Amino acid sequence: MPASVLVGAQWGDEGKGKATDALGSRVDYVVKFNGGNNAGHTVVVNGETYALHLLPSGILTPGCTPVIGNGVVVDLGVLFEEIAELSERGVDCSRLLVSANAHLIAPYHRTVDKVTERFLGRRRIGTTGRGIGPAYADKMNRVGVRVQDLFDAGILRQKVEGALDQKNHLLTKVYNRRAITVDEIVDELLSYSDRMRPMVRDTGLELVRALDAGRTVLFEAGQATMLDVDHGTYPFVTSSNATAAGACTGSGVPPNRIDRVIAVVKAYTTRVGEGPFPTELLDEDGERLRASGGEFGTTTGRPRRCGWYDAPIARYAARINGVTDLVLTKLDVLTGWEKVPVCVAYEVDGERVEEMPMTQSDFHHARPVYQFFDGWEDDITGCRSVAELPVAAQGYLQALEDLSGAPISAVGVGPGRDQTVVVRDLL
Ligand code: GDP
Ligand code: IMO
Ligand code: MG
Repeated sequence: MPASVLVGAQWGDEGKGKATDALGSRVDYVVKFNGGNNAGHTVVVNGETYALHLLPSGILTPGCTPVIGNGVVVDLGVLFEEIAELSERGVDCSRLLVSANAHLIAPYHRTVDKVTERFLGRRRIGTTGRGIGPAYADKMNRVGVRVQDLFDAGILRQKVEGALDQKNHLLTKVYNRRAITVDEIVDELLSYSDRMRPMVRDTGLELVRALDAGRTVLFEAGQATMLDVDHGTYPFVTSSNATAAGACTGSGVPPNRIDRVIAVVKAYTTRVGEGPFPTELLDEDGERLRASGGEFGTTTGRPRRCGWYDAPIARYAARINGVTDLVLTKLDVLTGWEKVPVCVAYEVDGERVEEMPMTQSDFHHARPVYQFFDGWEDDITGCRSVAELPVAAQGYLQALEDLSGAPISAVGVGPGRDQTVVVRDLL
């Protein structure tokens, strides 16, 4: 399969990092196409744990070229910190390529992110505070600063002036903060330009040429379907397209080059930050899932909200992304429950609905309709085939496949690279 996209089906943290890393040795390029260092991907290789934020998970695979596409927003300080940390641990980061068209996150984006959240009060989104929304807002508002601007000091200054003009009014007059000077921003950004130069490319051209030459490309989404700015639970979303279509706009590779769409989905559901979540468990069952799944944010350390598997969301993700394969993760976390509930539909105003409701108000009021499946007791972390799984776990898998709109091609039974049951070949 020359070009495949890997996305999250729920609200993030499905285990995309582990899945991408596992496929890394089979592909020539791993491309991040959306988001920035709001992402947190934990990858465990030979007992060593890596937490990746801005770098594509392919960075851990020697021989694979990691690419930061034009759709990503790049915080240069974070980029070089992450490169330094990985290099210290012996990871070769010299193959990394960064799109000249990617936008930069500047210090004022982080400031605006934090003050906006504070002023929203009870209506806050619960962002990661990394400046993601304000950086994308500047991009859309056509006052963004791009990677290529680092190589033309005159243009960089003009762009920073343009971006700061309105923001300083906002910061000083509305939010009562100090003004940010053009000099401090330009000096900081220029301090990275020499180190950036060797990795900056027309990555769209590079990727299409690579595909023409028969190379393989895996696009790795940050965030997930329900956090997509167009298709997620707006306004409780991130500010980019985390769905499969974003791989094209965020990389410069056209849709007809992509032939496989893999969605990673957790065997239950989690969410970080605010917003509707029909199957959320606010009782000790939620606590139990959080504890056994280690559900604490990789980026902000916040406890993740936990709930049961939501099949309408999986079906929605299958439709929006054109999913060809599901990777079901963390099945091992469900070991030990007598019964495992699965949300098969919603009840909205007394009516049963099988699809995502059209309006956000209805989704807020959607109550899960549960079907209960038999649980299992045996440890499954050593299983490597479906036949080795307890019969009840096999039944749970089959039920999820029947309910979720796409075949399950792999099942995660632990965080390690090899802790996967492969049902059918993914690439
Ligand atoms: P991502 O943002 O989608 O890459 O996911 P995160 O890395 O934020 O969160 C997933 C967490 O689950 C990480 O700590 C992974 O190491 C871990 N993980 C991934 N797959 C499995 C699995 O099948 N079983 C268990 N127990 N942990 C897993
Ligand atoms: P990965 O790639 C889970 C959530 C935040 C917040 C909302 C907006 O690890 O799955 P932002 O800072 O993006 O403006 O915050 O989106 N969020 C994530 N939740 N996993 C992520 O990434 C997330 N990235 C952003 O918690 O609710
Ligand atoms: Mg994560």
